[in-house]
Amino acid sequence: MLLALFLAQSLAAAQPHLPPPDVDVAKGRVFAADRCGLCHATGPKGASPLRKAPPFRDLHKRYDIDGLAEGLAEGIGVGDVRMPEHVLKPEEIDNLLAYIKSLSPRGR
Ligand code: HEC
Repeated sequence: MLLALFLAQSLAAAQPHLPPPDVDVAKGRVFAADRCGLCHATGPKGASPLRKAPPFRDLHKRYDIDGLAEGLAEGIGVGDVRMPEHVLKPEEIDNLLAYIKSLSPRGR
């Protein structure tokens, strides 16, 4: 139910910033919902299921999105046990970051 809502919202969201052709934003979106959506709001609206986890659409306000790539490759471990350590494949990172960028108004 939630997932269907999320997908509907995502499809409705305009994406004016086209990513490079080898990057798959749609895969990034599915990945985010699947692997991160348990705690983070991964869509254009809504609060995070886990209140402490920043919504993905706000990450660009606090982080350089490209700078997250390194952390994701090595395993982001936040000083909070509730943020599990994630080690992502390069392809997963590209797609995920492209998707996160597509959520920010300036697309960065
Ligand atoms: C089990 C819950 C959970 C899952 C699943 C989860 N996160 Fe988080 N995440 C958190 C929490 C809680 C915080 C905030 C930690 C804090 O501020 O101490 C966080 C913070 C973050 C941050 C900010 C890092 C920082 O230094 O503050 C990023 C980026 C992030 N998560 C990315 C991801 C990505 C990408 C995924 C999926 C691959 C993911 N998270 C999955 C709970 C989760």
